[in-house]
Amino acid sequence: MELRTGDAVAARRRAEELREQILYHNHRYYTLDDPEISDAEYDRLMRELAALEAQFPELVTPDSPTQRVGGAVLEGFAKVRHEIPMLSLANAYGPDDLREFDRRVREVVQDPVRYVCELKVDGLAVSLRYEQGRLVRGATRGDGQVGEDITANIRTIRNVPLQLREPVTLEVRGEAYMPKRAFERLNREREQAGEPPFANPRNAAAGSLRQLDPKVAAARGLAVIIYNVADAPGQRLSSHSEALAFASRLGLPVAAETRVFEDIEAVIRHIESWATARHELPYATDGMVVKVDSLSAQAALGFTAKSPRWAIAYKYAAEQAETVLRDITLSVGRTGVVTPTAVFDPVVIAGTTVTRASLHNEDLIRERDIRVGDVIVVQKAGDIIPEVVRSLPERRTGQEQEFRMPTACPECGGALERLPDEVAWRCVNPVCPAQIRERIIHFASRDAMNIEGLGEQWVAQLVDRGLIRDVADLYHLRHEQLVPLERMGDRLASNLLAAIDQSKHNSLEKLLFGLGIRLVGEKAARTLARHFRDIDALMAADEADLTAIREIGPKMAASVVSYFRNPDAQHLIRRLKEAGVNTRYLPSAAALTAGTAGGADAGEAESTGAVSPFAGRTVVLTGTLSALDRKRASEWVEALGGKVTGSVSRQTDVLVVGEKAGSKLEKARRLVESGERPDLKIMDEAEFLAILRAHGADV
Ligand code: IVH
Repeated sequence: MELRTGDAVAARRRAEELREQILYHNHRYYTLDDPEISDAEYDRLMRELAALEAQFPELVTPDSPTQRVGGAVLEGFAKVRHEIPMLSLANAYGPDDLREFDRRVREVVQDPVRYVCELKVDGLAVSLRYEQGRLVRGATRGDGQVGEDITANIRTIRNVPLQLREPVTLEVRGEAYMPKRAFERLNREREQAGEPPFANPRNAAAGSLRQLDPKVAAARGLAVIIYNVADAPGQRLSSHSEALAFASRLGLPVAAETRVFEDIEAVIRHIESWATARHELPYATDGMVVKVDSLSAQAALGFTAKSPRWAIAYKYAAEQAETVLRDITLSVGRTGVVTPTAVFDPVVIAGTTVTRASLHNEDLIRERDIRVGDVIVVQKAGDIIPEVVRSLPERRTGQEQEFRMPTACPECGGALERLPDEVAWRCVNPVCPAQIRERIIHFASRDAMNIEGLGEQWVAQLVDRGLIRDVADLYHLRHEQLVPLERMGDRLASNLLAAIDQSKHNSLEKLLFGLGIRLVGEKAARTLARHFRDIDALMAADEADLTAIREIGPKMAASVVSYFRNPDAQHLIRRLKEAGVNTRYLPSAAALTAGTAGGADAGEAESTGAVSPFAGRTVVLTGTLSALDRKRASEWVEALGGKVTGSVSRQTDVLVVGEKAGSKLEKARRLVESGERPDLKIMDEAEFLAILRAHGADV
């Protein structure tokens, strides 16, 4: 009994410590954009906290970072009336518009006017309400008078404090946005899953905040920047810059690049100085907002029907560049889709040199009348994705070549087909070398089977030499077949074979994603693996079984069933199994980090009812284990909430001892015997395995 009380006290202390660390790292990551630890380390902190809270539910506080992961799926969004309307801003497109704005302001305000400049982050406006310091509501702008209640989704945004540093009641406004990195990742995932990518980070942020399932929103990596304190009863604030400083003191994320100027010419210089520098920021910006600083001056200026008279949005012109289109190349993807790409003379746009842009499909090339040799205008959509805006027909010399989609596959010469309701042309030859190559490259990629070192150049050579025709062939490659490849050599060949061999132990979701089933992206693969546990069960499932899973829609269900009904796929799976490739779900650390931190998997590890003795503990493995390798053993410990480190110290809680253990065991014994860590647990393999089995491990 006493021991349990002691445990609970230690757990509470550790939980508080973890929460503090997590908040600190959120601040470094989101506000300062200067993380100190890797994502994996961050996830480890979150997992440890989740494991502690699972063990001691009384430790869960509503503002714990683990509570961000949304629970129930919403039916729809409730409406929220904005007591203070959410207005929009008038626009300025050049310095003269700003001077005109300044003139209108000074007609009303007699005293010298100070202006605040803020970056205009490209996202969507949100309103956050705190009562007694607690986040009680998040809402979209809607039509400015009535928005939607998106509290559940807002709570999942990591840089939004659930609890302010002081127990104040206030409403703040800001921009919810998707950082460039998260946007690129999301679009990569969507393309992998055969879903249309978002055109820009703003659409991606808006789409994510309107997700009815907060778990989806949670995984999207959104962030918020606060630019306005709308209502803070009882606070004596006399200027906008003071209000922002106040918000920042409360722990709210306020834009770091906010500056105050004494006159409009200084504002104009500042705006110009950011014209290109803004491209270096981790989020997309489309302008700068200029606001009168004094709140009494703001009150004197008032509003028009749509926008305040005390603020204006300066819009930078979307950076475009002219260049010459040299070629339109074609590439064949793993599903046979032939994609045209524009290749042009290098130009610098929004901070980087660009030489290529996808033209997506034949129709687009025709609609924009783009010909090889044309002078073209190129820009970056949402500051990120290069695109060809238009051609300049008036600059033609007569030498330009109209583009025509070939009727044969540029790789294998097979026929191209255009399906009735698709814009894409596809090579339908199943043994087209380009498709074979792309399928294998995808299979080996990091998010799939993660075969390190199996890059494009090797796959191309292996396919060209007829050494592999599908992914199962990889597992039959021999050293003497690899060595003669160009620039390969003995050592690389051994490394590559070892990496291929290692991939046999992956959990099912990696294999499922690697197979490249249409519409099955990384997330769906994880859902399927977790649900069916074994590829045989998945192969036996029909569409009704699949759509019964919440995250799986009818289109994906149909695609999965049709994939596994194909005898070629069945044959491939058989050969993969024969080669020793694991086809079962292993609730490993890899699966945990891939999900939302502290999400379903952590709960799952506990679901057998036993409480993990590794939760929140630091574990060291030593010696050789006979039943499983070091990597899998570590994954299990982590899946059960433990942290694995390499050496024994006073921080060590558990030492797992295999065959031929040496100095680590000695050191642990010394720590126990000297009384420094009398509670350090030394366990042998049998005990370790018994614990894993009690938690559902098949070892
Ligand atoms: S102030 C009454 N400040 O731009 C105050 N807006 O074009 C209205 N925006 O709806 C907004 N950054 O979504 C303000 N620093 C900033 C902003 C900002 C982005 C967005 C906001 C607004 C839109 C108006």
